[in-house]
This record gives sequence, structure tokens and C-alpha cells, in this order.
Amino acid sequence: MLSSVLEELLRNQRPAKLSQSILVLTLAALLDMQDQLTSGHSRRVGTYSALIARELGLSEKDQSTIKLAGLLHDIGKIGVRKAPLYKPDKLSDEEMHEMKRHVILGYEIIVEVPHLADIACLVLHHHERMDGSGYPHGLSGDEIPLGSRILCVADSFDAMVTSRIYRPTVSVPKALEELERCSGTQFDIEIVRVFGAYLRNEGFHLLGEAL
Ligand SMILES: [Fe+2]
Repeated sequence: MLSSVLEELLRNQRPAKLSQSILVLTLAALLDMQDQLTSGHSRRVGTYSALIARELGLSEKDQSTIKLAGLLHDIGKIGVRKAPLYKPDKLSDEEMHEMKRHVILGYEIIVEVPHLADIACLVLHHHERMDGSGYPHGLSGDEIPLGSRILCVADSFDAMVTSRIYRPTVSVPKALEELERCSGTQFDIEIVRVFGAYLRNEGFHLLGEAL
């Protein structure tokens, strides 16, 4: 639960950094409480994102930035109309437009918080795709910040392995197959390769660590 994440932060962080982290955790908890259907999603995406960052060999500072971005990636959903988020059917163009606003709103919320500008940028681009077909700016390849490419893989993975109103849960190996199928178009090839190697090495038991 969030309390265990908080305990880890209390042990390892300086006061200024700590208050920032507590603010982020509080925001993430608010979002998860608001949406019972995806409860824990923000926390798991934070955990998976940090794990991928570590496996890519990024610095501890970058790992911690990416973890905070994972915790906050969907914070903008607090500000969008809720109906499209819970709709089991295909969204209309207008509903899709409303739902996509969450990345802009998330950016606008976070960029106001001192020292979180880097995280705001990662959140803004977490639905971009490698082939340029994502949103909000249609960035492609290396134009997309590395942290956002990591969030995209972690977010999609968790969405697949936890049940959603519009689709049943898939197994971890099946979810990895889907990430690999969309590698290079939707997802960064190297990130999927590293995450896949970790999952296989762990015998697909990642969920125990993150839940
Ligand atoms: Fe999102």
C-alpha cells in the first residue's frame, strides 16, 4: 500500500525532497481513491516505471523522477468528465477528445509545483507513440522523452494485466506478447526488450512485488 512507499521515502530522503514526495503520493492516492475501478494503477505504474528505469541503467535520481511521474501520470483525470472513462463501448470523437485532455490537465497541475517541471513534461507525453500516432503532440521516436516512453510501456502493461470495464484481464506472458507485437510502432523497442527480459528472468512474477 501507499504507507509502505511512504515508509521507504521517510528512510531515504532529505526534508525538502520528502515534502515533495509526500505531495506526489497524496495526489496519486486521491486519484486512485476517486477511481475504484483502477485502484492502485498509479502506484503500480510508478513501481514498473522505476523498475524499467533501473534495468535500463539510469541513475538513481532518474529512477526516482520516473517513479514520481508514474505515480502522477494520470492525475489530469481528476479534471475531465468521468463518463468517457467508465464507458465500456467505443468512445465518440467528442468523448475521445475529452479523455485525451487528461495529459494536458496533468501537465498544468504538476508544472505549478516547484521542482516538478521535469515530471510535468513526462506526464504530458505518456500517450505519444513511437510512430507518431499518439497524443497530444504526435511526437515520434526520440522526440518523445525517454521517461514518457517508459511510462507508456508500464501504463499499457498494467492496463492489460488488471481488469478494466471494457476488457478482461490478460496474463502477464500474453501482455508481454502484446507489448512485443506493438514494439517499434507504439512502444520503444529497447524498453520492451529490457522489461521482457526482466519478466522472463523473474518467471513472470513481477506482480507480487508491485501490488
Ligand atoms: Fe493516461
